[in-house]
Amino acid sequence: MAKILVVHSRKGGVMKTTTAYELGYVLDAVVVDLEHDLTGVTVLWGDRPLDRAGVPILDAIASGRTPRPLKGYRKPRLVPGHPSLGTEGPGRERMSEALLKWAAEWDTDWVVIDTHPGAAEHTHGALAVADVVLAPTTLDLPDLRGLEQLVDEMLDYPVVVLPTKVRPVPPAVGLKRLEQITADTQVQVAPPIPFVSSMGQRTKRIAVTSENPPAKPLRLLAERYKMVGEFVKEYVK
Ligand SMILES: Nc1ncnc2c1ncn2[C@@H]1O[C@H](COP(=O)(O)OP(=O)(O)O)[C@@H](O)[C@H]1O
Ligand SMILES: [Mg+2]
Repeated sequence: MAKILVVHSRKGGVMKTTTAYELGYVLDAVVVDLEHDLTGVTVLWGDRPLDRAGVPILDAIASGRTPRPLKGYRKPRLVPGHPSLGTEGPGRERMSEALLKWAAEWDTDWVVIDTHPGAAEHTHGALAVADVVLAPTTLDLPDLRGLEQLVDEMLDYPVVVLPTKVRPVPPAVGLKRLEQITADTQVQVAPPIPFVSSMGQRTKRIAVTSENPPAKPLRLLAERYKMVGEFVKEYVK
């Protein structure tokens, strides 16, 4: 049975999608895209869900079949998302059951799930069966307030915080806030992902972590994602 890692946060723009993509590649996972606007891993991967007649995730749940992931060169395997997940998303229970079944049937050690910011029913379904809830956040205070809410509401969940877009000299106030939020909880903090200004301009679809070696400004980011991969493997042991 594959381990399930759910990338989740209350805020957008904190590198959930980038993280799902890179960790999906690092862990040789099947990535399931539950983000329902078309800004998630599906579009990054290069799939065009609107050109397809069906909605793989919803069709699989309706028929009781296990979806067959798309494969690509130097990209993680993918079960693509679709905008209708936002309006006709499956309920909590059905999503949980489906993910457990798929995780048992796919030939993989990991399933990585990208989610939409906030809490839809099917997101709750994914969170309920997560072996790791990876919560990316920047060290900016608004994002940390989102993290604080998440940690408060998810005390029983296996939450690991992933600091993202971290500058060489991280802001002391943000660091302190992060420490306060995680103090006296089970929450762990993974190795931070550096800020890389060129990420927003990157046009390649292959995972940064698949490049050998990546362009210089991306090397530390790739190294850190590999460390985060090792971190979550240890965490679920
Ligand atoms: N290491 C990085 N440093 C700075 N910006 C980044 C980095 N990685 C990704 N970005 C940019 O941040 C934005 C949000 O990333 P994304 O992964 O889509 O976040 P989310 O899924 O949480 O909304 C994108 O424009 C992306 O290109
Ligand atoms: Mg996203």
